Amino acid sequence: TTLDDWTREANFQRAHLIRDDEALDWAMKNCEDNQLPDINVEPAQGKFMSLLCQVVGVKRVVEVGTLGGYSTIWLGRGVPEDGKVITMEISPKYAEVARQNIEHAGLSHKVDVLTGAAADVLPTIGPDHSFDLIFVDADKKNNPTYYREAKRLVKKGGIIIVDNVVRNARTSNMSVQGAPDIDGVRALLKIVKDDKEVDATTLGTVGEKGYDGFMFCRVLP
Ligand code: DHB
Ligand code: MG
Repeated sequence: TTLDDWTREANFQRAHLIRDDEALDWAMKNCEDNQLPDINVEPAQGKFMSLLCQVVGVKRVVEVGTLGGYSTIWLGRGVPEDGKVITMEISPKYAEVARQNIEHAGLSHKVDVLTGAAADVLPTIGPDHSFDLIFVDADKKNNPTYYREAKRLVKKGGIIIVDNVVRNARTSNMSVQGAPDIDGVRALLKIVKDDKEVDATTLGTVGEKGYDGFMFCRVLP
């Protein structure tokens, strides 16, 4: 199987299970028109997180790394009308595009887009242990910092999801050395391995952007 096969497969599955979506189409065109990088989560992953929120009854979410708000829209749909998604984005331009997309999707009342580096913004968020889900999807080199803040913010029994931990199998390829993103993922895996307060697993994803995956982490009650 080649990546083309996996792209076809992902699109085939999606065509059956993920409905045409005016708001997400509009958001993706707005991102393209504004030259945002095409590195959103896969539709399957966005919808998974939305379903997860509904199944578990997630009400309060922190997202680290907004980009154009594609995953934010899925998360915003997953939380109830009195829920809240706080998301942060280092680029003021991307944050503005995300606000437009979230407004167009009718989710502005549930979503706060904060502008700034996550390492600066996260410490301003609280109270501690008041969020059901933290989704980390920003610069991979700072994953250890984001994980520490996620642990502070998430409730006992809550969920931390970290995107992009597989990276086309580069994470485990020890001939890859000195790549900041891979170092950040490896450092995070070590931290979680030794963290007795959590239980975690990796879920693989594959599609047109290649092989990747996210860490799904339960903070023990
Ligand atoms: C890439 C993909 C992502 O989902 C992300 O958060 C950052 C980078 C990438 O494919 O390079
Ligand atoms: Mg990502």
